Amino acid sequence: MRVPLLAGNWKMHKTVSEAVDLVKALLDGVGAPTDREVLVCPPYTALLAVQPLLEGKPIGLGAQDVFHEVQGAYTGAISPVMLRDIGCTYVIVGHSERRQYFGDDDAAVNRKLHSALAHGLRPIMCVGESKPQRDAGEAESVVVSQIHGGLAEVTAAQMNDVVIAYEPIWAIGTGDTATPDDAQAMHAAIRNVLTELFGDTVSSQVRIQYGGSVKPDNVDDLMAQPDIDGALVGGASLKAEQFLRIVHFQ
Ligand code: 13P
Repeated sequence: MRVPLLAGNWKMHKTVSEAVDLVKALLDGVGAPTDREVLVCPPYTALLAVQPLLEGKPIGLGAQDVFHEVQGAYTGAISPVMLRDIGCTYVIVGHSERRQYFGDDDAAVNRKLHSALAHGLRPIMCVGESKPQRDAGEAESVVVSQIHGGLAEVTAAQMNDVVIAYEPIWAIGTGDTATPDDAQAMHAAIRNVLTELFGDTVSSQVRIQYGGSVKPDNVDDLMAQPDIDGALVGGASLKAEQFLRIVHFQ
């Protein structure tokens, strides 16, 4: 049984006090979910402030990125050891915005993923095609290649701690979400690749989230798809009421 993971990626939003307010509002409304897992990924600057509020509560803490080295002269970078030290259990790697604005390629994503795993963080590895790639009929080959590159040298045992997020770039922040059928088709294709790489047992256990304009009014249809195991939510995770509605999908 795959437990759906509903994660909020706050991106570069929220000061510390705003982050604390949002977490308090989420804790007020989240209840005691047993059949789903909830996660927030605030900016680095707010992690330490929200961590004590989440201690022992049904919302986990993740970061939005990590550098692969553990320590050293890497100005501006944050290591997996630092993230573990302040109570993070998950980290996003390979988000399309990191790929676009910060030059993360599959090799960098793969290094980050290995480093996260080696230091006890569960990576959420994002993949997804651009609009021109989709229009050219290349969506699946692009995503399959990102999966191969990002998961290079990962073992079947390590895959227990890996989450994949399919986020078509054209659906991010646009309100233009993939249809449930299109999303399902790509999720099934990703699961097929996982079967080729790691076998049936592993591929049937790996969670594949959908991300890209997930909102209260489309979440139920997306989550009803057999291979969609949660959501990675941007804009709608910044408002407690909207994210809680997504968390409580039917
Ligand atoms: P939106 O939900 O704002 O489209 O962002 C999706 C995303 O990039 C989550 O990582």
